[in-house]
Amino acid sequence: MSDRVNRRWLVDKPLNGTVSEANFRWVESKVPPVEQGKFLVRNRWLSVDPTQAILLRLGDPPGSAAPIGQVPWSLAVSEVLESRHPDFSPGDIVHGEMGWEDFSLSDGTGFNAAYRVPPGIPLRWAAGALGLTGLVAYFGVHEVARPKSGETFVISGAAGGVGSIASQLAKIAGLRVIGIAGNSAKCDWLVKEACVDAAVNYRQEDVGQRLTELSPDGIDIFFDTVGGPVLELALGRLRTGGRIVLCGRTAEYLADKPTPGPSNLTQLIMVNGRIEGFLGRDFLARRTEAFDAMLPLLRSGRLKSKEDVVVGLREAPNGLARLLSGENVGKQLVRMDDEPDS
Ligand SMILES: NC(=O)c1ccc[n+]([C@@H]2O[C@H](COP(=O)([O-])OP(=O)(O)OC[C@H]3O[C@@H](n4cnc5c(N)ncnc54)[C@H](OP(=O)(O)O)[C@@H]3O)[C@@H](O)[C@H]2O)c1
Repeated sequence: MSDRVNRRWLVDKPLNGTVSEANFRWVESKVPPVEQGKFLVRNRWLSVDPTQAILLRLGDPPGSAAPIGQVPWSLAVSEVLESRHPDFSPGDIVHGEMGWEDFSLSDGTGFNAAYRVPPGIPLRWAAGALGLTGLVAYFGVHEVARPKSGETFVISGAAGGVGSIASQLAKIAGLRVIGIAGNSAKCDWLVKEACVDAAVNYRQEDVGQRLTELSPDGIDIFFDTVGGPVLELALGRLRTGGRIVLCGRTAEYLADKPTPGPSNLTQLIMVNGRIEGFLGRDFLARRTEAFDAMLPLLRSGRLKSKEDVVVGLREAPNGLARLLSGENVGKQLVRMDDEPDS
């Protein structure tokens, strides 16, 4: 294995405001030998996540300096080639933190502890709808929002990776779902394919006015994946016992200045409301529960896995750029060069 060439990206310049291929440098090196306690994988699908922008910009953990000269990490679905680790064997398909490279060495730790993907799960689902993205959507809806049938559920970033799954899970749970997204293709997908009740294009419509029209009695749950001014609008319309789920703040990850907080938090008191953030990786140990619930829905087509796939390792920076400019519809993935489109 050590004679094989490992194509990899390295971080070259810090991310400031935008991200493009110019932030990274392409190199080729030899695959290192597998030390005791580690395993070597061939990466097959890379998940592209906005969180990468925070860590590439501020370091991992945030504040520890941008990782210049290092391989950007990705959650990935990969095949074990060699192992000197007690939990993984050659041929295993694993989900874990790997790099923007053909081959990665892992000790099984990282942003998420590595785990074996159960047999029979399509690898693109393992990286997306049933990866961290799907777990966040599933537990965010069912554990944090705790929906009751008939409630009104508003979600930002509704046609993104997390948003596309969370919108559909809320609909399947019997909620009235209003998705907010950034272009007409996303809004069309939400209404026609995800079957939500209404979609608002925040770049072309007055979101406050549309929410008033679409939810005249107010909203019960706001699932926020984006941050920014919509949180204030949602707070202003929250009904008694309403819940706000803080899932992500994509709009803030590359921003120069901190976004001002909502000015109307008093509303939360007036409605006995709840605002709660959560980390999907804390639910990793319960992933089987989410797989058991979502896999039959995915197989039957009732839950659609909308994916936006760029092909080849060379395209990894472009995948991240697409995500942070809002070009992606659905879960942004990288299918590695030799990986079949299945
Ligand atoms: N809590 C957790 O454990 C956890 C785990 C995974 C992900 N997350 C978070 O969940 C959020 C969604 O992740 P994802 O992977 O599903 O990404 P995504 O929603 O597929 O992609 C990001 C979307 O954010 C919107 N966006 C990007 N830049 C923006 C900006 N400057 N202003 C407003 N909107 C912007 C765009 O959608 P529009 O075109 O619709 O604006 C874009 O498509 C992220 O914030 C992520 O960090 C949290």
